[in-house]
Amino acid sequence: MCGTGENTPVVVTAKLFAETVPDQESMKILDVGAGTGEQGEQLAKYSYKNVEFTAFDPSEGMLNVAKKRNIYSDFIQGYLPDSGIVSDFFDAIICVGTFIPGHAPAESLRELVRVTKKGGYIVYSVRKHFYEDQESHFQIVEEELTKAKHWRMIAKIEDEYLPAQNIKGYYFSFQVLN
Ligand SMILES: C[S@@+](CC[C@H](N)C(=O)[O-])C[C@H]1O[C@@H](n2cnc3c(N)ncnc32)[C@H](O)[C@@H]1O
Repeated sequence: MCGTGENTPVVVTAKLFAETVPDQESMKILDVGAGTGEQGEQLAKYSYKNVEFTAFDPSEGMLNVAKKRNIYSDFIQGYLPDSGIVSDFFDAIICVGTFIPGHAPAESLRELVRVTKKGGYIVYSVRKHFYEDQESHFQIVEEELTKAKHWRMIAKIEDEYLPAQNIKGYYFSFQVLN
């Protein structure tokens, strides 16, 4: 993950993505908070056949590093929660290390639902202690989206996040309903 030297969240999230998001004839995948593109590199190890992979990040410098990996076909410089992306566009979203204090707020989940096609998937990670802090609002927004039938949970797992600091994470996969 960018800046930490540890890539556990990237590995665990890509694995959950591969376990819960079925391959399709063609797929548009968005990497939200792509940073330098480590997540794209990891996801490329799985056998998705025909992927248009877009990197989204506020940092032009990070996107420039991601470009050199030759994994992404599109690059969008922008900030959640207002991505500026058209609605119902992506088949799947992956988001790692972006839902942390001072980065994208929990309200961004609504934006991710908006830009995902009906039946599409959103896979992301949040550090356990941050998720469980009511002030982060992640549980609240997740539950609101579930109650309103905008998405349904496919998987929630607890796993290592920053093992050297004994920090655990939650890893989620949701399917968008409408
Ligand atoms: C810890 S890095 C994670 C990068 C990459 N996903 C990884 O795991 O290697 C967090 C990324 O989130 C981006 N970011 C920060 N605030 C954001 C926001 N409001 N919307 C989207 N991305 C944001 C940063 O520019 C940075 O690239």
